[in-house]
Amino acid sequence: MRTTVGIIGAGPAGLLLARLLHNAGIDSVVLESRDRAYVERRQRAGILEQGTVDVLRGAGAGERMDREGLRHDGIELRFARRHRVDFPALTGGRSVMVYAQTEVCKDLIALQLKEGGPLLFETEALAVEGADTQRPRVRFRREGVEDVLECDYVVGCDGYWGVARSAVPDGRTFERTYPFGWLGILADVAPSHDELVYARHDRGFALLSMRSPSVSRLYLQVPADTDADSWSDERIWDELERRFETDDDWSLRRGPITQKSVTPMRSYVHEPMRHGRLFLAGDAAHIVPPTGAKGLNLAVGDVVTFARALTHRTATGSEDLLDAYSATCLRRVWQAERFSYDMTTLLHTAPGATPFEDRLQLARLDRITSSRAAETDLAEAYTGFPIG
Ligand code: APR
Ligand code: PHB
Repeated sequence: MRTTVGIIGAGPAGLLLARLLHNAGIDSVVLESRDRAYVERRQRAGILEQGTVDVLRGAGAGERMDREGLRHDGIELRFARRHRVDFPALTGGRSVMVYAQTEVCKDLIALQLKEGGPLLFETEALAVEGADTQRPRVRFRREGVEDVLECDYVVGCDGYWGVARSAVPDGRTFERTYPFGWLGILADVAPSHDELVYARHDRGFALLSMRSPSVSRLYLQVPADTDADSWSDERIWDELERRFETDDDWSLRRGPITQKSVTPMRSYVHEPMRHGRLFLAGDAAHIVPPTGAKGLNLAVGDVVTFARALTHRTATGSEDLLDAYSATCLRRVWQAERFSYDMTTLLHTAPGATPFEDRLQLARLDRITSSRAAETDLAEAYTGFPIG
């Protein structure tokens, strides 16, 4: 097999990259180890930055998002009091879209199968070879048979556990793990608030999010090694209710839980994001704790930057944007890492935190909710950093 761009992974990064390249007249092949049902069902992110929304619309992949997505103009920070962060007022009109990455993937898969190049499910990339040559290759296994995909470029969109990163020699990694994770649930009940609620409570962090007007998505901070099945539905709702407590008449609606899982927390960056003709994008290169809702949006920025750079080279012969790819992406990545770390340490009760650190956390919250400058930093970061 032969193509211009070999893409490993059919998550948001790989699927959007294939779409962007198709629209630019550049052929690609996507290799995905799991089956289509797994990719379309995997519950992960839910918030699209303004820039991501614009990219999906521009790529012709925004029609259902515009029909079914929920535009949100703010979030609530809940601690000793309730404080709404007004995004448009603080950012000159920016907002975010609530539209799950499962739906983004479904839309992109449908487009790729209808109009795009080969999207091979149940096809596992085994190794990237010859990244430092003009003809990199992806060795893969499909239906028990090993084969090779000859490419001009390879983009590793294969997530944190993928193979592409290992083909970048002498990479530097920067990492932080957290002593807690998120127990996430999907519930068939209308969200109890019309916007997201981030609650900082002495018992731990809680997040109220949503998937539609009738499906809620909620998270609870739990110890890192928590087994989701060890939490009964009733215990989950009781704990959520305690952490979202207010001194007004707000209440948390309950309903049947249809899915529960524990997400570990990690900050991670691999530098550089390129070696020769191999490029890394999305979770293959960086991980953020989900508190800032940045994971998918960073992946979008990476693949937009690569598609722009390759299109530029195809049009002009110049490699300068490809040569700048890693530095361009990493500048935005590190801003998102900083914001995600700040949001995580702002809102979670770290086990073993000293009374001084607890007071510091409340002082940070007090500052953000009483200073327009501090609140603007949060609103600008949450609604998204410019791409490229
Ligand atoms: N061969 C082929 N496919 C692979 C391999 C491999 N060796 N290893 C992993 N994959 C596939 C996975 O099955 C997965 O579908 O690569 C894909 C990686 O997708 P994601 O993990 O979703 O990563 P990415 O596309 O970068 O998305 C980044 O989007 O899902 C949200 O918030 C989430 O931060 C995440 C963001
Ligand atoms: C989600 O809806 O899954 C979600 C929303 C906001 C976050 C993290 C996850 O910060």
